[in-house]
Amino acid sequence: MTLDIAKDRVTDQPAARETKTSKTVGIPKEVYPGECRVAVTPDTAKVLQNLGFDVVIEAGAGEAAHFSDDAYRQAGCQVVDGATVWRSADIILKVRPPDLHPTFQQHEVELLPEGSTLISFIYPAQNPDLLKQLADRKATVLAMDTIPRITRAQTMDALSSMANLAGYRAVVEAANHFGRFFTGQITAAGKVPPAKVLVIGAGVAGLAAIATAKGLGAIVRAFDTRPVVKEQVESLGAEFLELHVAEDGTGSGGYAKEMSDAYITAEMELFAAQAKDVDIIITTALIPGKKSPVLITQDMVESMKQGSVIVDLAAEQGGNCAMTKPGDVYRYHDITIVGLTDLPSRMAQQASQLYGTNLCHLLREMGGGHEYAIHLDDDVIQGALVLHNGAIVWPPVKKVGGTAGDRPDVAAKKPAPESDRPQLSPPLAPTKPSAQPIRDFIWLPLAGLALLGIGIGAPASFLSHFTVFVLACFIGWQVIWNVKPALHTPLMSVTNAISGIIIIGGMLQIAGGLDSPTTILGAIAIFIGAINIAGGFWVTQRMLRMFQKDG
Ligand code: NAI
Repeated sequence: MTLDIAKDRVTDQPAARETKTSKTVGIPKEVYPGECRVAVTPDTAKVLQNLGFDVVIEAGAGEAAHFSDDAYRQAGCQVVDGATVWRSADIILKVRPPDLHPTFQQHEVELLPEGSTLISFIYPAQNPDLLKQLADRKATVLAMDTIPRITRAQTMDALSSMANLAGYRAVVEAANHFGRFFTGQITAAGKVPPAKVLVIGAGVAGLAAIATAKGLGAIVRAFDTRPVVKEQVESLGAEFLELHVAEDGTGSGGYAKEMSDAYITAEMELFAAQAKDVDIIITTALIPGKKSPVLITQDMVESMKQGSVIVDLAAEQGGNCAMTKPGDVYRYHDITIVGLTDLPSRMAQQASQLYGTNLCHLLREMGGGHEYAIHLDDDVIQGALVLHNGAIVWPPVKKVGGTAGDRPDVAAKKPAPESDRPQLSPPLAPTKPSAQPIRDFIWLPLAGLALLGIGIGAPASFLSHFTVFVLACFIGWQVIWNVKPALHTPLMSVTNAISGIIIIGGMLQIAGGLDSPTTILGAIAIFIGAINIAGGFWVTQRMLRMFQKDG
């Protein structure tokens, strides 16, 4: 069966589209073999509707992730056949990049109506031909894999959501193939030593693997080229292995940069020694847009203890282990090598929920169903946008002073010619001579004049209190200002001592009754001080709870 959806759409429905006020999102069933995730779950469908979108979903799209058609219907979605989804949606939401549709025997790109929008994983650096096909359809495409890793975009960072699941699942897979406890035990039948796990690469997936392995009771060691992750690794209870080579792997936007050959050689010597000692190696080393570095050689695999396990999360990018077979699990010299590339899909229900939530946040960022627009000056949208009305806009042109450059330079292959790309940053206005310097300094003589006036006119008793007040403000300001911003919240939450002193002062002032401005001020001071103390305890309690394990 072949569909001419684009034709139907363009010729039969223009009037309907012009009068429509809200946008329709369509969720087709994933066609990639073995893919169990779905882009929208019943819960996230409700969120999309609250944002003003109409939701149409292909019958059976959520089945493999354990979401029935009835659950979608109850969530207010229209459950329709695949052709209707492609035909009626303004925005198609998918997990995997478009692929050949097994039923229609057409590429999904051809099913995408001309001029509509697609949001899914795209991997533009690896898929230049797909970009070209989508450009021919005049599509607008946002790639969930190029959302910049900046704080504001964390809620939309689907790569991190999926890597977090993959890190957890890597340990579960390792445990499945490792025929022993992770935790050490002393039983009547004898002593069981804990398993030793080495995690290479402590990014999102690596940290999730460390936390999971630690939770199961293993001894966990980790290595990363970015020294900044040492504290994170140690805070999870693992040992951070260090290399005494003066090279820092920190790249841009929370990603790593490629290391020198000398560094990689030194690193591999460390792994060769570790391979003989540990039971499980989980590798997650990744440089965006590059083939993953081979860090575990055949010799190292052969040197491992019998029954050991290697889980290579980087399998899809070639693998960190020389013996990995992408997509496969096999035994070599009694060592199990796991090269699965679909770990998030093996936790499809949760993966879909997290991915769907990332999509909701992105669509909210774009204005929701009623005010939906591609905001080219939004650095998150700028990072994610790979095609705009058929024009290739990836990799994003760096904004002057903007954050689009926070994405690592992943344009390894065939970036679009500069002339094909619209200028994303708004043109800079001609610079006007600024009045700012004058404004910055005008307060100084004004403050001086005010102080002079107070000095001449105020009574001596007021002046002594006022001097103490000004000095207290100055010292207080200097003390707080020199504390790291990260410590401001704990600092503020323990200012109860100051509030206590204020309350005592206030109580002394109101001792004679509430009949003068001083006593009223004293009462206000007691009230605000009390709020500060109660709030301080509350905030401290909340912070402590963040570090406490449930149960
Ligand atoms: P990430 O970029 O957050 O972390 C990668 C870490 O590797 C970084 O901390 C980086 O500093 C480190 N690294 C880079 N080169 C290194 C080297 N030579 N030695 C030691 N460390 C090095 O990436 P994320 O999101 O944690 O993903 C990790 C891997 O997991 C990626 O390859 C990703 O594609 C893969 N993944 C696999 C899945 C699967 O189903 N198999 C699913 C999701 C992610």
